[in-house]
Amino acid sequence: MATQNLDLVTPRVGSPRITVIGTGYLGATHAICMAVLGYDVLGVDVDPAKIDALASGRVPFYEPGLPEKLREALDAGRLRFTTDFDEAAAFGDVHFVCVGTPQAPGSHAADLRYVDSAFTELARRITRKALLVGKSTVPVGTADRLTALVQEVSPIGTELELAWNPEFLREGFAVEDTLHPDRLVFGVASEWAEEQLRRVFRPILEEGTPLVVGDLPTAELVKAAANSFLATKISYINAMAEICETTGADVTVLAEALSHDARIGGKFLKPGLGFGGGCLPKDIRAFRHRAEELGVGDAISFLDQVDQINLRRRSRTVDLARELVGGSLDGVKVAALGAAFKPNSDDVRDAPALDVARMLYLEGANVVVYDPEANVNAHRVYPDLDYVESLAEVVDGADVVLLLTEWDEFRDADPAALGVLVAERRIIDTRNVLDAEAYRSAGWTYRALGRPAAVEVPAESEAVA
Ligand code: UGA
Repeated sequence: MATQNLDLVTPRVGSPRITVIGTGYLGATHAICMAVLGYDVLGVDVDPAKIDALASGRVPFYEPGLPEKLREALDAGRLRFTTDFDEAAAFGDVHFVCVGTPQAPGSHAADLRYVDSAFTELARRITRKALLVGKSTVPVGTADRLTALVQEVSPIGTELELAWNPEFLREGFAVEDTLHPDRLVFGVASEWAEEQLRRVFRPILEEGTPLVVGDLPTAELVKAAANSFLATKISYINAMAEICETTGADVTVLAEALSHDARIGGKFLKPGLGFGGGCLPKDIRAFRHRAEELGVGDAISFLDQVDQINLRRRSRTVDLARELVGGSLDGVKVAALGAAFKPNSDDVRDAPALDVARMLYLEGANVVVYDPEANVNAHRVYPDLDYVESLAEVVDGADVVLLLTEWDEFRDADPAALGVLVAERRIIDTRNVLDAEAYRSAGWTYRALGRPAAVEVPAESEAVA
């Protein structure tokens, strides 16, 4: 099938006008991409700083390719930003709500106050038939509750309809995942709502993108189930890493062998320091919490194990660092390579890298951190750690180096050149991305999660025999 060029076009006359409430990661990307697809879009947020930044062409977070798309949308005159909900209510035919659902303080539940507020503020101002579409990740049952709420406060009552359209974009690939998603999911309560969503996503559907239409609770559950599955897959291979560590087996070889089975597949089977970020950790906890509330907690109690396996990778890394420097981290100079929860992101929410750096610091290590994009955000969260601006500076005089986020810059570094800068050639590759042999040949003690301390190299005569 020929792929249509979506990065285009003339304004879509007669197409629905779109608002996007919440211009964080998800909302800003959605608003920008919808405008790039040719729709007239109004981005709305309660934070004037975000709105000012976006309106002046600046994306307030790191996402490859998004600044260029923002420029394109602004230049085409199809994208505007406001803090005014009255303007949003008057402008939009289809309103997407993309506000955050963080973990509630002191609980595993999702904090729904921003979602509730966005839907209510909008609904009480809407005076003509319109569709409200939730994109935020919410506990199952939220959309039904919100339907009752918005229809009660809206001047048009049941004429105001609600739909759910979960989002599956990954940070670092946000533009690609939004313009060319691997599927679309619509949760709807009427044919009219489905029709509106089909109009909004027409260019993407015309590409042949699979569409799954269900009811509201199913659409909400799809997102929780998808993120839970991904988290489970990562923790599965990391559980195997634990077994490998006590048996001398190599989890990277194991993972590769599993990946060739098409039923298993190699994606999200990368053993290492595990998952973090603003989605997977809080989503599995909120899902568990919701299942308990519904009386079906046993069905997904395994997600507690998934969470624990994931967190154990962090303490295992600290144990390995302690072991490698001879038993105590007190006063040891540690070079932490990476702070973001994954490469190509400046997001440090629940970042395994930063958590390990913090744990080492609490054991008395002198931790120096370098992340190509996340230093500023990391410093905001952990101002006690030292931050430097280059790879050369971070490894300078280090007693042990920890690769914590697999940026290309770290992956591509020359072990011999790094070796000249450190005090001791010791490295822990927590993401299993370095060439172990290249490091060992350059005189490094190389350790990784889930792999034996050193690969047995058979003597030459044995190898020939
Ligand atoms: C995740 C999902 O992948 C998206 O589909 C979803 O839309 C998004 O959450 C969301 O709910 O908004 P994201 O948080 O951007 O996306 O990050 P991922 O690419 O999923 O990575 C999550 C974490 O898992 C990272 O810390 C990464 O290092 C880790 N990971 C990933 C592994 O440890 N091993 C792997 O094999 C893959």
